[in-house]
Parts: sequence; C-alpha cells; structure tokens
Amino acid sequence: MNSVSISQKEFNTISALLYKKTGIFLPNAKKYLVVHRLMKRLRALKMDSFRQYVEYIEGNTASEMQSLIDNLTTNETFFFREEKHFEFLGKTIKKDFMSNSTVRIWSAACSSGEEVYSIAMVLSECLDHGNWEVFGSDISDIVLDKARKGIYPIERSSNIPRQYLKKYCLKGVRSKSGEFTINNNLRKKVRFLKINLYNEIPNIGMFDVIFLRNTLIYFDMETKKTALYNVLPLLKRNGYFIVSHTESLVGITNDLEMQKKYSSIYCKT
Ligand SMILES: C[S@@+](CC[C@H](N)C(=O)[O-])C[C@H]1O[C@@H](n2cnc3c(N)ncnc32)[C@H](O)[C@@H]1O
Repeated sequence: MNSVSISQKEFNTISALLYKKTGIFLPNAKKYLVVHRLMKRLRALKMDSFRQYVEYIEGNTASEMQSLIDNLTTNETFFFREEKHFEFLGKTIKKDFMSNSTVRIWSAACSSGEEVYSIAMVLSECLDHGNWEVFGSDISDIVLDKARKGIYPIERSSNIPRQYLKKYCLKGVRSKSGEFTINNNLRKKVRFLKINLYNEIPNIGMFDVIFLRNTLIYFDMETKKTALYNVLPLLKRNGYFIVSHTESLVGITNDLEMQKKYSSIYCKT
C-alpha cells in the first residue's frame, strides 16, 4: 500500500487523543510524520484510509492507545548522550554522595535504556558494588522491552568509553556477532517500570538525581508544568534534576536552581 493522506480533522482527532493521554503536543507540522509512523499500523489492521483508523481508534481507544503511543513517541537515544552530564555525575557522586547510605538515580523517560546503563556504568565506577540503584521508566512498552533485555546493535557501542565497554559489555559471538549485551552485574542494579509522567507517579521512592532529558521538548507549557509537578516531589532536597542542553526550565518551576557551570543541571532548593 502506498502512503495515504490524512485530513485535518483526522489529524486533529489523533493528536487530541495522544495529547489527552500523554501530554505530547503534535503541531500541524507533524502531520506527515504521523502518516509515516502510522502506515505500518494501518497495514497491520488491513485498513487503507485514516478515516477507517480514526473510527477504529475512537471505538477501541483503550486497546489501541498503547500502539498509538508506541508509534508516535520519538525514542531516539544513545549511550553517553551529552557526555558533560556524565562527567558531572561522576564528580558529584564523589563530592556529595559518598557518605549516603544509598544512591538512587531515576531516568524518567529512558527510552530503550541507553541512558540508564550509561548512568549505571558511572555509578559502578564510583561506588563499585555499594548500595546504589538506577531506575528507568518510559511510557512506551516497546522501548521498555528493549531496555530490559539490554541487548544492542554493536554500532551503538561507539560512544561507550573503552574501559567501560570492556568491563560492562559482552560482545556477541556467532549468530549474535552483530550485537552486545550489558553484563549481568550491571543489569542487576537497574530496574525498569512503565510510568506516564502526565499521570500521578506510583510509589517508587525518592531520588538523589533525576534525568529527564530530551522529553520536555515534546510537551507544551501546561504539560511541562504537570510533568514537573508530578516528578519533582520525588527528588530529594539538594538533589539534582538534569534536562537536555537544548531544554530550559525557565518559567516552569520555582523549586529548582540552575547550576552556575551547567545551564541544563538544576538543584532542588
Ligand atoms: C527522545 S526520548 C529521550 C530518551 C533519553 N532520555 C535521552 O535523552 O536520550 C523521549 C522519551 O520520552 C518518552 N515519553 C514521552 N512522553 C512521555 C510521558 N508522558 N511519560 C513518560 N515517558 C514519555 C518517549 O516514549 C521517549 O522514549
């Protein structure tokens, strides 16, 4: 089936459903992206128009919603993305957290887990087998499944520092030669759970550092505020909140103070 077109009304229905459930805002400019990403789903449902798909999702919202979320979320990520944050993390653990009985870090929209395992490698270097834990969550089942498996195509290892690669990753052999796996010792220290940041957060405890990077950009102002309202109570006082270099929290919350040297790292006051 060739690509099919979407009317403004059909696009509005799909974007309103996604917004209501996740807070993700799809401007009109994303129309063709929506068509592109949903074509496979239409094919699987043996539908040849968005009119049929919209009727279907309106009648089966509960069951089709997860598929819509899985298809329309942008899950791009990679190991040691924005490496300055990992340098900061290593320094901060040594400076502020060495005397903590436990260090807990949350990657609050972790996609397929690369961010979680990058954090875990830094923690393991600083605290070895000590009492630490990295918690990863996302709204998409598909990426969480990949994150739990901890198996990645070998090309994805290029950003992992060499010494970490040797220590924490296992290169696949024979039929698995194009991939690598995160080793068991590291995987034992991480946990993954499905969490929608637009809803009330389940009881997952308090954290010393929360990473919420490259996610707020998909939200409008109201959703950004809701997500922070939900997430920030779980950050300990004097704990750190980290967003992407391209994101800003100006005008969204008064509970955080920007760090002098890093405009994307905030401290809870
Ligand atoms: C671009 S990825 C960012 C991954 C990683 N944090 C990084 O910076 O590389 C954005 C992630 O946010 C997730 N996401 C979007 N809306 C969400 C919501 N309301 N609750 C939880 N996760 C959400 C998406 O599923 C996606 O995996």
